Amino acid sequence: MVKIVVLRWGHRPQRDTRLTTHVALTARALGASGFILSDLKDKKIKETIEKVTKNWGGSFSFEMGIPWKKAVREWKAKDGIVVHLTAYGENIQSNDVLQRIKASERNILVVIGSQKVPNKFFSNAVSDFNVAIGNQPHSECASLAIFLDHFFEGKELTSSFENAKTMIVPLKRGKKIIRKGN
Ligand SMILES: C[S@@+](CC[C@H](N)C(=O)[O-])C[C@H]1O[C@@H](n2cnc3c(N)ncnc32)[C@H](O)[C@@H]1O
Repeated sequence: MVKIVVLRWGHRPQRDTRLTTHVALTARALGASGFILSDLKDKKIKETIEKVTKNWGGSFSFEMGIPWKKAVREWKAKDGIVVHLTAYGENIQSNDVLQRIKASERNILVVIGSQKVPNKFFSNAVSDFNVAIGNQPHSECASLAIFLDHFFEGKELTSSFENAKTMIVPLKRGKKIIRKGN
């Protein structure tokens, strides 16, 4: 089973806190196994994500403060590939980039930016694939969600999360939650 970890580069403290939290929550909910907030630390985001994981289940790693170069180097040393999501990359829908990624059968580090990313990110030394979720600029959260959904072919939407303390019972109307122990 291929493992996907998301690396968030360029987080700006305060300004990006909510969005980075949403990116990490999206990664967890849509099938990634972990998240790296590169280059700096944000205790508040880590606490939020760990609290969600404890409550809603599954295993999801959260690391922070690792320099992005080190994270990429270590990932590649373990034979993983790096997929950089960028509006300038190969369009996920109009060519076979996703098939090529899947054919590699290797674990994937998905790199997403916030502010303008260093040019190096586009190079072979960093990214094995530069993938565009359409060639219009939009959002890191939207691009990650669509990448994961295409990668897992929608199956991630029905995953169960082991050891969940809280679970939603889907209903046509209203809200129903099961809490373990109640
Ligand atoms: C809000 S964008 C900022 C982009 C920045 N202004 C630049 O010129 O690189 C932040 C991140 O969202 C992701 N992103 C935005 N649009 C995308 C697209 N169409 N396809 C893939 N990723 C995208 C990229 O990871 C990008 O670094």
